[in-house]
Amino acid sequence: MATISMTVNGKPVTANAEPRTLLVQFLRENLRLTGTHVGCDTSQCGACVVHLDGKAVKSCTTLAIACEGMSVTTIEGLAEGDVLHPMQEAFREHHGLQCGYCTPGMIMAAVDMVNRRGHALDEKTIREDLEGNICRCTGYHNIVKAVAAGAEAMGKGAAPVQAAAE
Ligand code: FES
Ligand code: FES
Repeated sequence: MATISMTVNGKPVTANAEPRTLLVQFLRENLRLTGTHVGCDTSQCGACVVHLDGKAVKSCTTLAIACEGMSVTTIEGLAEGDVLHPMQEAFREHHGLQCGYCTPGMIMAAVDMVNRRGHALDEKTIREDLEGNICRCTGYHNIVKAVAAGAEAMGKGAAPVQAAAE
């Protein structure tokens, strides 16, 4: 067992886990933050995306122990109380989900995309950038619309994810 400490959604956490524990297991099983999903065992689906020191990573291919001392933001850390993050609100407004299984990873990847590529995202850019996230339900059309709208809304003064996590 190893003692692993990190900051998750702005709060310091410490837990004991095997050194082989994946970040997604640490979040779901040790911390009971079950919004981060596991949708594959091949690092392809993106359901497990979280932010590590402000950058999107697949938490199914990241060891928890490698995140010692780092800052993690999960889907649970995006909203401010009852107020959804603008990207969450855009997914709700534009029906960017059906079963919702892929949605936490989609939203975390989308916020990262905005942080990297700005607020004016065209369809081609969004589709290319989301290639690491798979959705089996929606056909992607409304996801693309939601990401474009969320990106624009984030540009109108909404706090980016890192600010929400601190
Ligand atoms: Fe991580 Fe599928 S669970 S990519
Ligand atoms: Fe069902 Fe994307 S909404 S997998």
